[in-house]
Amino acid sequence: MPVLRPRRLARLPALLALLAGLTGSHAYGESEIDAARERWANSPYGPMLERILPPGFLPAMIPERDSAGARLLRRYCVQCHNLPNPAMHHAEKWPKVVARMAERMRGKGNMGQLMADMMAGVLAPSAEEEATLVAFLGRHAQAPLDPGRTPEVSRPSGEAFRLACQQCHVLPDPRRHTAAEWPAVVARMERNMRWMNRVVGSQPVRGEPQLRIRDINAFLARHARR
Ligand code: HEC
Ligand code: HEC
Repeated sequence: MPVLRPRRLARLPALLALLAGLTGSHAYGESEIDAARERWANSPYGPMLERILPPGFLPAMIPERDSAGARLLRRYCVQCHNLPNPAMHHAEKWPKVVARMAERMRGKGNMGQLMADMMAGVLAPSAEEEATLVAFLGRHAQAPLDPGRTPEVSRPSGEAFRLACQQCHVLPDPRRHTAAEWPAVVARMERNMRWMNRVVGSQPVRGEPQLRIRDINAFLARHARR
C-alpha cells in the first residue's frame, strides 16, 4: 500500500468526487481501458502511440454498447492507442484495418522493435471474434460521399473540403449531418488534425494545402441533410 503523503491527502476530496462520477460508467469498461492505457501510455513509445488516434471518443459513446462487437472493441482496440470510433472509416475499409491490427496483436505486425517491446500481455482476437468486430465496425461505419450525387466535390468550390477531409478517412457524406451540426464536427476534426499532426494551416508553407474552414463549412452546408 502506498503511504498517502499530506499533499496527496489534500487532494483526496477531489479524487473521491472523481471516482464517484466514474463508477456509473464502470459497466462500460472504463477500468479495463484505463489498465490497458497505462501499459502503452507509460512505454517509451507512449507519446507516439498516443498520437495515433485522438482521445475524444469515450467508451460510453460506443454504439450498441452491450453487444458482442462493442465488448470486443473495448477489450482489444485500446491496448496500443486510444479507442477508435467505428464512424472513422467506411465499412469497406474496416476489414483491412482490423486484419492489420490483428496481425500485430498476434505478434506478426510491422513496426518491429516498437511492437515487440509492447507485446507482452497483449491479447489477440480469435478468427471468430475478428469477424464479429469487422461486422460491428461496418454497421456503424462512416458513409462515404457519392461523387455522382455531389458532383461539386470535384469542382474548385469543393477543393478546400476535398483536400482537408480525405487525409485520414474517405470524404464523408455531407448528408450525415445538418448544416447546423457540421461546424462543431469540423471544429472537432481540426482538433483531430492538431492531435495527429496533419496539416492544419497554422503556419503557411508554400505548396501545402491550407485548412480553409469557412469554405469547408459552406460546402458542407450546401449539401447537408435538410
Ligand atoms: C498491438 C497494438 C495495436 C492494437 C491492439 C490495435 N492497434 Fe490500431 N494501430 C496500431 C499502430 C502501431 C497503429 C499505427 C500504424 C498503422 O496505422 O498501422 C495503429 C493505427 C490504427 C488506426 C489509424 C490508422 C488507420 O488506418 O486509420 C486505426 C483506425 C486503428 N489502429 C484501429 C484499431 C482497431 C479497430 C483495433 C482493434 C481491432 C486496433 N486498432 C488495435 C497498433 C494497434
Ligand atoms: C487528422 C485526421 C482527420 C482529418 C484530417 C479529418 N478527420 Fe474526420 N475523423 C477523424 C477521426 C479520428 C474520427 C473518429 C473520431 C471522431 O469522431 O472525432 C473522424 C470521424 C469523422 C466523422 C464521423 C463522426 C461524426 O461525428 O459524424 C465525420 C463525419 C468526419 N470525421 C468528417 C470530417 C471532415 C468534414 C473533415 C474535414 C474538415 C475531416 N473529417 C477530417 C480524423 C480526421
